[in-house]
Amino acid sequence: MDNRPIGIFDSGVGGLTVFKQIRKELPNENIIYLGDTKNFPYGNRSREQIVDFAMENAKKLIDKNVKMIIIACGTATSQAIDVLQEKFDIPIIGIIEPTIQYVKEQNIKEIGVIATEGTIRSGAWEKKLKENIEDIKVINKACPMLATIAEEGKAESKEGRKAIKEYMEPFKKNRINKIILGCTHFPIYDRIIKEELEYDVELIDTGITVSEYVKKFLMEKNLNNIEDESRESIYLTKPEKEFKNIAKNIMGMDIEIMNI
Ligand code: DGL
Repeated sequence: MDNRPIGIFDSGVGGLTVFKQIRKELPNENIIYLGDTKNFPYGNRSREQIVDFAMENAKKLIDKNVKMIIIACGTATSQAIDVLQEKFDIPIIGIIEPTIQYVKEQNIKEIGVIATEGTIRSGAWEKKLKENIEDIKVINKACPMLATIAEEGKAESKEGRKAIKEYMEPFKKNRINKIILGCTHFPIYDRIIKEELEYDVELIDTGITVSEYVKKFLMEKNLNNIEDESRESIYLTKPEKEFKNIAKNIMGMDIEIMNI
């Protein structure tokens, strides 16, 4: 048993979609969330920048005595997880590995992946999917505008719907019915995507695959917290006007935000 908190980071509000599922799956765990709003968006940055930001975030969380880190960001997972895992000696889990496991278990043979420009450019999802699942067909689509529109609290606006319409075209045309939401901001669009596609589709939310994976991991390593009361702290590297409202929509509760 280990009552130290789990550290979670993302570039902004998106990682709260992971936080929410972790909270649900692991109600006893203390959680520290870090949104690197000062450097948002990560999606169009170079790999070097992503690695620098991810390193800084990990150091800040380790300073707060976390027992493990969840990279609740597709862009940082795709380009920086190896560096972080090598540098730090606490467990570091990203959003790709747990999701690949899920896809493998489901015996899926054709899948869409939507993510930021940087994530798609890295080829990380496609590479891992193909390494682990024989003959899987992967259809990638970079969606450069979505994280920013969501971060501004405009996912349901005309602008958000227009972007979804454009980005869903390759999936709609081929009636792809399994799509990985490869950026943690994207579950915010869940309803709009389903409305746009108009057919039965499973949108794979990495928050769910990650939380199940982390639960198993903590149990196996005997690192879970068995105390009854849990706390959560949310830190941002720069105050953001819309953060509190969007967080409330995602988490279904009011949250207190601190600066770091
Ligand atoms: N939520 C992030 C991701 O999963 C980052 C989006 C961004 O900062 O561009 O990729």
